[in-house]
Amino acid sequence: MRNVWRDVLDPIIPYETGTPPERLAAQLGLPELVRLSANENPLGPSPRVVAAIAREAARVHLYPDGGAHALREALARRLGVRPEQLVFGNGADELLGLLALAAFERGDEVIVPQPAFEPYAISVMLAGARVVPSPLAGYETDLDDMRRKITDRTKAVILCSPHNPAATIIRRTPLLRFLDALGADPPLVVLDEAYRDFADDPEYPDGVALLGRFPRLIVLRTFSKIAALAGLRVGYAVATAETCDRLNRVRAPYNVNRLGQIAALAALEDPEHWDKSRRLVLEERAFLSEGLRTRGYTFPPSQANFLLVKVPDAPALREKLLRAGILVRDGASVGFPGHLRISLGLRETNEKLLGVL
Ligand SMILES: Cc1ncc(COP(=O)(O)O)c(C=O)c1O
Repeated sequence: MRNVWRDVLDPIIPYETGTPPERLAAQLGLPELVRLSANENPLGPSPRVVAAIAREAARVHLYPDGGAHALREALARRLGVRPEQLVFGNGADELLGLLALAAFERGDEVIVPQPAFEPYAISVMLAGARVVPSPLAGYETDLDDMRRKITDRTKAVILCSPHNPAATIIRRTPLLRFLDALGADPPLVVLDEAYRDFADDPEYPDGVALLGRFPRLIVLRTFSKIAALAGLRVGYAVATAETCDRLNRVRAPYNVNRLGQIAALAALEDPEHWDKSRRLVLEERAFLSEGLRTRGYTFPPSQANFLLVKVPDAPALREKLLRAGILVRDGASVGFPGHLRISLGLRETNEKLLGVL
C-alpha cells in the first residue's frame, strides 16, 4: 500500500471549535445561547468597522492587497516600528503555521508551555519537529524549567502572556532575566500577546519594545480580541525585518482578506472603541471575580478576557450553565480538568452566570 499521507499527521486530532451557538441553541430548544467559551469580545466591533466593511462589500470580487499596505503603515505608526517589521496572517493562528514552515524541521525541539493554546504544539508536530513540554508551575509559566530544557537542538521557545487558558502573565523582570540568559545565539522566542490589551498589571511588559534588544523575538498579536474581529481573521507578527522576510517567503500571496484588512484599519482609527472594549473587560473581570470569590470559588487572578475557575464537578456545572443558555469551556479540553474557562460576557450574562453558580 502506498502511504500517501505524512506520518506526522497520525497523532494529530483536528481542532474542535464546537457546534455554532445558534445550532446548539436550536438542538437544545433554547431561545438564546451566549457563547462564553471562545474568549470573544462581548462588545462587538466598532460601528466604524461595520460601516467600513459595508462600504467595501461591493469590492470583494477584487483580490486583497497582498502587502496590506494601508493597514501595515497605520499599524507600524501605532506601534513605532518600521512597516517591514510586520507580517499579517489569517489570524495569529496562521503565523504559527508560517513560523513552523519557515523554521522548524525534523530533529528540532520547540519548548511549549503545557497546557497552552493547542495550535502551538500542532504547528510543531506538523513540521516534524519535537514538542518539549514545559508544565506550568500551578497557573504560572515556569521560565526556569524552560531554560533548563534548552539544548543545541532548541529551535524556539513559545511563551504566552496573558496565558491561555491560565490567564496569568509573565512579568517584566523574569522575562528579561530569561531572555538575557539565552545569550548571544538564542533560539527564536515567540511571545504570544493575543490578550495583551486586557492586562493591567503595571509589571506587564511590552513585547514590541524588547525587539531592539532581542532580535530573535517574535511578538504575536491579533485583532480578534480587543478589536472584536475574530470572524474576519486578522493577526500579525512584529519582529525584525529579517525574521519578517523569512515568514513572508512561506506566506500565501493573499492570506489576509480584503474585508479583514479594511476592518482592521478602521479599528485602528477608532481608539475610543478599543478603550471601551478594554474598560468593559476590566470592569466585568472585577465584577465576576468578586462574585465568584464571595461564592467560594478559587481561580488565578486574570489578566485576560476570561477566568479559569476551579470547580468541584466541571462537566456537570458546564451542563447546568448550558441549560441556562450560557456556553463555557470545560477545562479538561484545554488541559485543566476540574476547571471551567469562562470568557467575560456583558454584565447581564455575568449576573446570570453567577445566579446559576
Ligand atoms: C493565546 C492565543 N493566541 C492566539 C490566538 C489566535 O488568535 P487569532 O484569532 O488571531 O487566530 C488565540 C485565540 O483564541 C489565543 O488564545
